[in-house]
Amino acid sequence: MIGKKKRGASLVLASLMLFAAACGSNKDNGGSPSPSAVPSSPAAQASESAAASPPAAGKKIVLGFSQVGAESGWRTANTNSIKESAAEAGFELKFSDAQQKQENQIKAIRTFIQQKVDVIAFSPVVESGWDTVLKEAQDAGIPVILTDRAVDSKDTTLYKTFIGSDFVEEGRKAGQWLVDQYKDAQEDVNIVELQGTTGSAPANDRKAGFEEVIKSNGKLKVIASQTGDFTRAKGKEVMQAFLKAHKDIDVLYAHNDDMALGAIQAIEAAGLVPGKDIVIISVDAVKDGMIAASEGKINFIVECNPLLGPQLMQAVRDVLAGTEIPQRVVTEETTFTSEQAKAALPDRKY
Ligand code: AHR
Repeated sequence: MIGKKKRGASLVLASLMLFAAACGSNKDNGGSPSPSAVPSSPAAQASESAAASPPAAGKKIVLGFSQVGAESGWRTANTNSIKESAAEAGFELKFSDAQQKQENQIKAIRTFIQQKVDVIAFSPVVESGWDTVLKEAQDAGIPVILTDRAVDSKDTTLYKTFIGSDFVEEGRKAGQWLVDQYKDAQEDVNIVELQGTTGSAPANDRKAGFEEVIKSNGKLKVIASQTGDFTRAKGKEVMQAFLKAHKDIDVLYAHNDDMALGAIQAIEAAGLVPGKDIVIISVDAVKDGMIAASEGKINFIVECNPLLGPQLMQAVRDVLAGTEIPQRVVTEETTFTSEQAKAALPDRKY
């Protein structure tokens, strides 16, 4: 324990194998993730068979991709993975950066529909409010693939598949580590939480998974929780406010590395030692986060793998070929203590 103030038609195997081949293993956390599959619903299968026609022979596949923004190191790695994989696949990529605004993503999707792209893919900035524009894409016969973040649409025929992490599980892993560290705690453990973008799937789910697990120990108390919008600057600003308002913070749970890194600046500026005076848990495991962990400033990181490009390009091919694909592809991920981060750092690719 860390001491207080110290511390197409049918689901075929071939489709899964293609995904697995495209993804490889995630063992060293530098590669692309491996999938696990959940079969499509009958409704989704019906819509899958009605959709998408492949481009004429010799014509490049055109993929419209609407990215969330450039808010974090994770996002930069994800964008690079998508651009590189599209180039390797020989696709024409129409890339649009939404600057963390849903209205920009809706505009981009409508533009892709007007441009008659072959497939639209996007990482939704928030979970709600997508049905209308997704229906427009469906009516235009353009298949949509979700990557990284989910939508909360009841009608799952509006998209072909969702490739990305299980964010609830990430929150649970963060919570479980804390429960283990403080299993013998006699006093209250005061936790502050830096949430991701309000309304986004990772913010909602990482919070829910964490709360679900820590409630098993009544000493673990979340005393403040606020959004830091997944950015370093906001992470720093909100942590400064937390430090002003609360004299006895034991633990920081940040929904991503960038916010944790901003918070570390605020903690050091307040004369405290990150990783010792305040125990820090974050999510992502991008290079800067791993460096901070290897230096003992972050105590535990839950990995969220951004290298989704190869899986996305394979899904585009499958959708256009009419091959059945799983409606959910979950990215496999690991976790890092400071020691494990130190060992993994030399091979870290992003
Ligand atoms: O959706 C994934 C999250 O978005 C990453 O964890 C975070 O860093 C990013 O901004």
